[in-house]
Amino acid sequence: MAPVTISNVRKRYGSAEVIHGVSVDVQDGEFVILVGPSGCGKSTLLRMIAGLENISGGELRIGPRVVNDVPPKERDIAMVFQNYALYPHMTVADNMGFSLKLKGASKSEIKERVDRAADILGLTKLLDRYPRQLSGGQRQRVAMGRAIVRDPQVFLFDEPLSNLDAKLRVAMRTEIKALHQRLKTTTIYVTHDQIEAMTMADKIVVMHDGIVEQIGAPLELYDRPANLFVAGFIGSPAMNFLKGHLQGGRFVAQDGTALPVTVPPAASDGQPVVYGIRPEHISLGTGHAAHVSVIEPTGSETQAFIRLGDNPLVGVFRERIALQPGARLDVRLDPERVHLFDKASGQRLA
Ligand SMILES: Nc1ncnc2c1ncn2[C@@H]1O[C@H](COP(=O)(O)OP(=O)(O)OP(=O)(O)O)[C@@H](O)[C@H]1O
Ligand SMILES: [Mg+2]
Repeated sequence: MAPVTISNVRKRYGSAEVIHGVSVDVQDGEFVILVGPSGCGKSTLLRMIAGLENISGGELRIGPRVVNDVPPKERDIAMVFQNYALYPHMTVADNMGFSLKLKGASKSEIKERVDRAADILGLTKLLDRYPRQLSGGQRQRVAMGRAIVRDPQVFLFDEPLSNLDAKLRVAMRTEIKALHQRLKTTTIYVTHDQIEAMTMADKIVVMHDGIVEQIGAPLELYDRPANLFVAGFIGSPAMNFLKGHLQGGRFVAQDGTALPVTVPPAASDGQPVVYGIRPEHISLGTGHAAHVSVIEPTGSETQAFIRLGDNPLVGVFRERIALQPGARLDVRLDPERVHLFDKASGQRLA
């Protein structure tokens, strides 16, 4: 295990810079997730940590050692990719032990380490099978097994679950989290799935267009997003946003709808702001008369697309709601749960 220190790292392809000075401190044993929309630079950053891409600027350390110019083999990391091509002509055991064999490890050592990894991953009974005789989830576990047998300082994962169906993905993410709790190996994990990030990470790094928007524990990002990008990215369904301004201690939307808020000390009267409220913080009850657009029952809860004046909102309710489009629905928007952002900068108003 080792900490990973990413200091002001940049990446240029020709004249185009795609990573604009990213800094992240990954503690020893921590599970850090890089999340962000497609093309924001997650894989590029991970590949630079692995040594598969060179670094155009900044410094990268694994433990105390600067690894900017250290070749991948000497970084003591193991990487699991989205396309975890297993060798089709090798058994599970041979696939898992292959890197040790290349290193010249003894047969008994290979067997011992493969057996231990298989035990951790529940693959013991499958060791003699070939990849084509495995399910997608089992193949994914073999790919992880290949990484585990190497007992590296750092695990790097690049969207390892994106080829699996939804149910298997949920099961595997619990397995990976349990695995980390057991091995406590420093892990950097890339995904564009914010639910995966929320459920697995000790710390999330939200990236966007080659920069870091915010770093924090999952619930910190959920409770106090630093800006509009993070507020809109973390949480599903996404946070509702209304544009307007502050006036006399209230928020006034563009259509004149006035909503109670706790005005932050830093805010000024008349300031243009964006009002944010999460769907789960809208509840049934007296407060505001909204009107139903679409009701979507999911069984455990009800998603309601409603209009408050001219403002479309999504609410998620525990209750079942049997209302036709156009019907009136009285809702309460919890003022304690409102997020306010400066409209010009997009930054949270503290
Ligand atoms: N070899 C390359 N040459 C030029 N541009 C590249 C190269 N590889 C990546 N890029 C660009 O760098 C940016 C970041 O790409 P990257 O693959 O890191 O994104 P990502 O966040 O992993 O996205 P995704 O979620 O789609 O995997 C993109 O704009 C991409 O087009
Ligand atoms: Mg990628």
